[in-house]
Amino acid sequence: MGSVNALVTGGAGFIGSNLAEALVERGDKVRVLDNFSTGNRANLEGLDVEVVEGELRSYERVHAAMRGVEVVYHLGALGSVPRSVQDPLTSSAVNVEGTLNVLLAARDEGVRRVVFSSSTSVYGTSRELPTVESTPPDPISPYGVAKLAAERYCISFSRVYHSFEAVVLRYFNVFGPRQSPHSQYAAAVPLFIAAIDQGEPVTIYGDGEQSRDFTYIANIVDATVRAAEVPGANGRIFNVAAGAPATVNHVAETIGLILGKPVEKRFEPPRPGDIRDSWGDITAARETLGYEPQVDLPTGLELTAEAIVARV
Ligand SMILES: NC(=O)c1ccc[n+]([C@@H]2O[C@H](COP(=O)([O-])OP(=O)(O)OC[C@H]3O[C@@H](n4cnc5c(N)ncnc54)[C@H](O)[C@@H]3O)[C@@H](O)[C@H]2O)c1
Repeated sequence: MGSVNALVTGGAGFIGSNLAEALVERGDKVRVLDNFSTGNRANLEGLDVEVVEGELRSYERVHAAMRGVEVVYHLGALGSVPRSVQDPLTSSAVNVEGTLNVLLAARDEGVRRVVFSSSTSVYGTSRELPTVESTPPDPISPYGVAKLAAERYCISFSRVYHSFEAVVLRYFNVFGPRQSPHSQYAAAVPLFIAAIDQGEPVTIYGDGEQSRDFTYIANIVDATVRAAEVPGANGRIFNVAAGAPATVNHVAETIGLILGKPVEKRFEPPRPGDIRDSWGDITAARETLGYEPQVDLPTGLELTAEAIVARV
């Protein structure tokens, strides 16, 4: 394996494949490490990337993928709050130990910087809105606990290992093309698009008035690439959000309007581990990363609906 600008762990997934595409487009040499558990080879079709099939829980596999790498975007993880409630042990093994393997291998190979995708779920419920990064974390779900542990390891490594750099990004609810509506743990936006398009009811947990800071994938990719480059970001945590919350009901209605189809809602009890409201303060990302969300919610939903309807 020769020298590469970027290793994207989880690069066959929704966010990872969109990031890999953007990196290739700007001329980077990109390697992807993925075990294809929730990711999909089709997401990388036609993309000039080197693919290493491997398991984050194996230090040897991760280390082998790290050779000659300048920057690591560590996105490989088992996502989804409900999945972690169902199986906290595997969530921890992949999301915490997997991250430790990435950090150790990056340290051992002299990687310049690791960018880690953490999550809004580290905040839990007791917080002011919009939430700033200095809010004491209080995760509810095992997924949030694992992400918090993993991000603390990133910050720790940036402090204890000379010249090692790490940046933590707390993504808020991400949506966009390539997000699968098919998994048992699929996110709301792709599920709603697929259901409404097919004339089926959408399932809403709770009353639908819970809000989320839905963030379009292009905004996430932009912030993530910036986090690998800018000075003054080492050892820091940044919210990456749209900075504009919307209710789940509003998103369902907007998708109905975009598709020109009626929206039938089926309400179920709230799911354990879910939070009520989520809204990120993005001042730090604006100031240090130069991040500014370029694609707003209605435009993002239109682009996503177009892509998902074409695929289902
Ligand atoms: N989608 C969101 O709204 C959101 C929000 C906050 C944070 N994040 C984080 O962003 C990252 C990417 O999320 P996504 O939405 O693209 O999810 P995804 O499931 O589409 O992508 C994750 C990728 O990691 C791979 N993977 C999982 N376990 C692995 C293992 N043990 N070894 C190697 N590869 C493994 C999967 O095959 C998949 O390709 C994750 O770290 C996730 O926690 C996502």
